[in-house]
Amino acid sequence: MCGIVGYVGPKPALEVVVEGLARLEYRGYDSAGVAVLSDGKLQTEKRAGKLANLRAALKENPRSADGIGIGHTRWATHGAPTDGNAHPHVDNANRVAVIHNGIIENFAQLRVELEERGCKFRSETDTEVVAHLLSEELAERGDNDLGAAMRSVCRRLEGAFTLVAISEDAPDLVVAARRNSPLVVGRGDGENFLASDVAAFIAHTRDAIELGQDQVVELRADSITVTDYDGAPAPVREYHVDWDASAAEKGGYEYFMLKEIVEQPRAVADTLLGRVAVDGTLTLDEMRLAPHELREISKIVIIACGTSYHAGLIAKYAIEHWCRIPCEVEVASEFRYRDPILDRQTLVIAISQSGESMDTLMALRYAREQQSRVLAICNVNGSTIPRESDGVLYTHAGPEVGVAATKTFLTQLVACYLVGLYLAQVRGLKFGDEINTIIGQLARMPEQVDKVLQTVEPVRELARSLADAKTVLFLGRHVGYPVAMEGALKLKELAYMHAEAFAAGELKHGPIALIEDGLPVVVVVPSREGRSVLHDKIVSNIQEIRARGARTIVIAEEGDDSVRPYSDTLIEIPAVPTLLQPIVATVPLQVFACELALAKGNDVDQPRNLAKSVTVE
Ligand code: F6R
Repeated sequence: MCGIVGYVGPKPALEVVVEGLARLEYRGYDSAGVAVLSDGKLQTEKRAGKLANLRAALKENPRSADGIGIGHTRWATHGAPTDGNAHPHVDNANRVAVIHNGIIENFAQLRVELEERGCKFRSETDTEVVAHLLSEELAERGDNDLGAAMRSVCRRLEGAFTLVAISEDAPDLVVAARRNSPLVVGRGDGENFLASDVAAFIAHTRDAIELGQDQVVELRADSITVTDYDGAPAPVREYHVDWDASAAEKGGYEYFMLKEIVEQPRAVADTLLGRVAVDGTLTLDEMRLAPHELREISKIVIIACGTSYHAGLIAKYAIEHWCRIPCEVEVASEFRYRDPILDRQTLVIAISQSGESMDTLMALRYAREQQSRVLAICNVNGSTIPRESDGVLYTHAGPEVGVAATKTFLTQLVACYLVGLYLAQVRGLKFGDEINTIIGQLARMPEQVDKVLQTVEPVRELARSLADAKTVLFLGRHVGYPVAMEGALKLKELAYMHAEAFAAGELKHGPIALIEDGLPVVVVVPSREGRSVLHDKIVSNIQEIRARGARTIVIAEEGDDSVRPYSDTLIEIPAVPTLLQPIVATVPLQVFACELALAKGNDVDQPRNLAKSVTVE
């Protein structure tokens, strides 16, 4: 998730663009760059690190601009966050500059073709192929029609992208294209803007145009033309933004957390992008662990903290089921102090959103000292944990600003499923079509999560009604147990309430004594399909607690009428395969905790005593 800005008009373009980037920095901040036309010549400046580094570089080397410019703040996906990988990327003649948000899935193939035709690549990014392709297209056409060149290039791209380009060949024009990635246009008076979201230009105009899928916009100071990829005029939605500048970067939401919950379908979809090769096999190219090394693995140990630990607990079920490799999951802070048994045949998977949690980092260093191979699952490209690991699988959730992990948890789950399936593939434990069936089920998850988000209003009402509760218990079985743990953690950290999760089968061994009249108990019910024994047992558990006075809040798949008679509140989620259920079952629990915390007047983005990245042991 990167931030993109484009401007064409009479104002100093560089200033407008950099000011827009400052408003988009929440979307990514590992590097930033700009391209402007200065006396008809293309000039770029880009720097790794925060926008301040770019500002300093621009101060040292000031540019004039002809009222046309583009800028980018990056959240790295392909290639480390370095100066060279920062956007814009230019063609070999330095006449075309491109910025990009998203992932071009077929970039490797396109890069090989371009290199065969003599193109020299200067970065490791997928984006650079577009600069070269546009350059080739413009040379072939010979008519300086950057819009037509962009349409033609887009027809060859696969994946999700917002692309913005300028060229010396078309000095009055900013061209942008969109597929499955955000792009809005700001209509000004004698000037026009474009950006990943309205935050970038809200100080200049509140009249916005939302582009549809597979559309190209040509932006001049006095005109905005939108077409489809074939050049036919395309319908767009014009609207007036009624947020002010400070609300805009939160997309109109009061808190980042609310926005991040809503972003989950996109985050899940992005994390799945580019993982399946043309021949249908899974390719995890940042994996860096050779298939023969993965075939030697005799044990997996997952280390993580907090929410990431819960993702690990769920991963265990999937990995053991699909790969039949023993899998242990351990809280990272405990791991190295118990003298764990590790060797070269142990694969240690370190899950960390930030890539900086000291507990996880120390555990992985210990594992590497014991000669184990370490694979990181991480959301922050270039952070310490992936840097120190043998391989990495990045989640593509984009920056998460709210302290409580939401979208990064769902994407960690997706990454864990991908690792499990990849291991099954390289070890020959599953046929390609079996793997593809599960990938297909995962590909439907964004839609299912969206469905949950459309139906959570009753969960919000319920949460508000429980704002005075002292304790909430959570019960689950199988993969629903870590989901229950995640629900309890969210409630503790956001609402500062006592919340505890139990494996439902453990109730009778003690915790059932806690049940008293009116005590809210949230129960995550496993799917009836495939786990019918567990399903029936948990229905009995619900009856047991209800008989003792509990107020039962039941999360069950739609159409599961067997739980209805025992549910004081029934929250229905889409029916999905058992192992994937956590992706949908977690969402109502996030909403529940967030809303309850808001009802108590808490700041859900910065809960007390907590930090987003815990860099102490
Ligand atoms: C909970 C939460 C924390 C983190 C934990 C690990 O919402 O955010 O429990 O999950 O501190 O952080 P990472 O994943 O960055 O290692």
